[in-house]
Amino acid sequence: MRPYDLILKKRNGGALAADEIEALMRGFTDGAVPDYQMAAFLMAVYFRGMTPEETAALTMAMVRSGATLDLGPLAARTVDKHSSGGVGDKTSLVLVPLVAASGVPVPKLSGRGLGHTGGTLDKLESIPGFRTALSEAEFIGQVERVGCAIAGQSAKLVPADARLYALRDVTATVDSVPLIAASIMSKKIAAGAASIVLDVKCGRGAFMKTEEEARVLARAMVDIGRSVGRRTVAVISGMDHPLGRAVGNAREVQEAIDTLSGRGPADLESLCLALGGWMLTLGGKAASPEAGAEMLRERLRSGAALAKFAEMVAAQGGDAEVARDPGRLPQAPVQVPVPSPASGVVVGIDGHAVGLAVMRLGAGRARKEDAVDPAVGVVLERTVGARVQASDALAVVHARSAEAAEQAAAEVVAAYTVGDTAPPEEPLIRGIVT
Ligand code: URA
Repeated sequence: MRPYDLILKKRNGGALAADEIEALMRGFTDGAVPDYQMAAFLMAVYFRGMTPEETAALTMAMVRSGATLDLGPLAARTVDKHSSGGVGDKTSLVLVPLVAASGVPVPKLSGRGLGHTGGTLDKLESIPGFRTALSEAEFIGQVERVGCAIAGQSAKLVPADARLYALRDVTATVDSVPLIAASIMSKKIAAGAASIVLDVKCGRGAFMKTEEEARVLARAMVDIGRSVGRRTVAVISGMDHPLGRAVGNAREVQEAIDTLSGRGPADLESLCLALGGWMLTLGGKAASPEAGAEMLRERLRSGAALAKFAEMVAAQGGDAEVARDPGRLPQAPVQVPVPSPASGVVVGIDGHAVGLAVMRLGAGRARKEDAVDPAVGVVLERTVGARVQASDALAVVHARSAEAAEQAAAEVVAAYTVGDTAPPEEPLIRGIVT
């Protein structure tokens, strides 16, 4: 089976058999298929697409490129979640302990931030002492004992994905539905949970700009999950502006703690209840997502969710007192309000622009090897639909220096659109794909 023939077949619009895809990926993993042939194949997939069967075969061939996590007897009850990412998206920080507090174990492998979006590991590491580099035994042991753990993904899981992603990044083939779906689902499948809940974002701040595109990606991923025996559901949610109010590592942890205490922003709480309701349903604890959401509301009210967060933080070496006193989180020395340039209504907030401003403050990375500043960020005081008077604070910038704050404030003002009439209210949850 020559790589040339497989590239030709895909280039001409043919569908590859599972063993052909397996041979190509095996060759890529062991070095027999060079990057230039894989790049050509990726471009052929970009233009020709893949059938659901091919996408599932690609996913499983990627899974077989490395090790898989064996969760043992726990596996059947575990539920994992994935978000396609967005500015201010701290749902994992809330959902993982919230769902675990309801009796469904959540083993969560997460990533770091790059570019304008943050990463769960960077956020958690803003808690003094918190360790995200857990060994496999530590990770599984903690899920058994505490009910949840959030750790960095070992490089041994799906090594083909990192190499494929690097090639896609430089060959303009990132935004291909089968390639995105196989990339995400291979990592979820290798991580071992029996059920998977996906949060697929759509809107200006997301990979998928329209609801239709998000639905196509969601369908591709749910089909992969089903074809390999994992219960999978996707929730499609809007990402036209930042989720919640806080953007920046410790600032987002603080907002997650507020949410776990039942005092979070309405959009973040309702997204967590929707995703968590499905997690409890797939995990066998709730008869329906609505019943699951009601259980989760009770966990927020009773303090059980916050207590589970503190237990997870302590288990990973962090200062669990932050749950009671978020003032213990790193604080930036300079905090300046960003005044509104006009009176009116907030019509829009460009999440991408806010994310870039926060990254430039030092909270994110322009390059993989950059260090992040845990304390800095932006907290939105007015969100979409709010009335403002000229000079009211739109947001507060948390910065290392006055100069950095001034630069970020200018970028935050530019990210806001203040107009005369409130925009039509868009529902946060746009659909469910089962
Ligand atoms: N996230 C992933 O993990 N992979 C992609 O291809 C796109 C988003």
